[in-house]
Amino acid sequence: MRRPLAIPILLSAALCACQRPPPATRGIPPAAADGVRRWLAGATPDGTPATPRPPVDRGFLALGAEVYRLRCIPCHGVNGNGKGIHAARLSVPSRDFTRGVYEFRSTPTGTLPTDLDLFRTVSRGVHGTAMIPWNWLGDAERWAVVEHVKSFSPRFREEGAGDPVLVPPAPDETPALVALGATAWVRNGCGKCHGETGEGDGPSAATLRRDGGSPVRPLPFSAGRFLRGNSMEDLWITLATGLDGTPMPSYAAVPPEELWALSAWVRDRAGLAGAPPGRALPPDADEQLGWRIDIEER
Ligand code: HEC
Ligand code: HEC
Repeated sequence: MRRPLAIPILLSAALCACQRPPPATRGIPPAAADGVRRWLAGATPDGTPATPRPPVDRGFLALGAEVYRLRCIPCHGVNGNGKGIHAARLSVPSRDFTRGVYEFRSTPTGTLPTDLDLFRTVSRGVHGTAMIPWNWLGDAERWAVVEHVKSFSPRFREEGAGDPVLVPPAPDETPALVALGATAWVRNGCGKCHGETGEGDGPSAATLRRDGGSPVRPLPFSAGRFLRGNSMEDLWITLATGLDGTPMPSYAAVPPEELWALSAWVRDRAGLAGAPPGRALPPDADEQLGWRIDIEER
């Protein structure tokens, strides 16, 4: 009785294998996969929503829970505590949403990010970590998952988001501006953590910790990879608002022109000033791991 059974089973297994999409794009449309590959090479998508946030009703909340279940649980965990099944594989830990503390905000240090900030983080990804860009999900799905992420921390129910800090128009990246940045770098003591030349080897670098207690080291600027993106505006807002939950402070008290000078100096260290946009970067281990977890292994 065994033999006749085995044949149909083998046959259907073979058919299944043929119907399976190629591993590199599993679960993601091919055009979207190309976008993520460009991100892996250093590009950062814009991340601005094309449509406003839909009204928060039951359908919207259910959609958010569903997107979170399908896409985010592997790293951020069922309860949003950052303890997903893949968390232990990541060298940069996935965010614990129950704390309600966010690195990438347009709002002052210590305040909550706006919904748009969260939408943009989800859409743009976080370079140097396994958090790939999710801009290939629809706008409604991204707005909905943002609402779900917020639901993990009571902070969002108790206090509103901070008031966004407006980024002034960026000046030209002239050699004079870079030189001003070099002086501002010394004056503000950035080298204490980042090292004199921004290679991440300052005297306190080895002792820096995240709020949760895990070690964190600033990336060497010369590698050209910036968590948030490498434009003048990305760097300026990071300096103006800090990266909450990490030792990177906010320099809101420093005049805006000086923050531009510092941004230009950092970009110069990274070889980005005047470089053609879209210069490809060598692969990063955590980014590649994010790709495997999110795209290939599902
Ligand atoms: C493969 C693992 C992985 C998956 C899957 C993942 N993330 Fe992340 N996420 C991370 C890591 C790692 C960080 C921490 C980045 C850092 O510390 O800079 C992060 C950070 C974040 C942050 C915090 C950024 C900040 O400002 O501090 C948000 C919001 C976020 N993820 C949302 C999501 C959403 C929504 C999904 C699902 C659509 C998702 N993530 C899926 C790994 C992942
Ligand atoms: C007390 C230590 C400390 C000081 C002082 C400090 N930083 Fe940082 N900085 C960090 C850490 C830690 C990170 C990385 C955070 C992370 O990986 O989440 C960082 C990240 C950065 C980044 C990368 C942002 C990105 O998107 O990747 C830039 C740029 C930066 N700092 C510039 C500066 C400048 C300019 C100054 C001085 C005005 C300065 N930092 C002072 C600790 C510090």
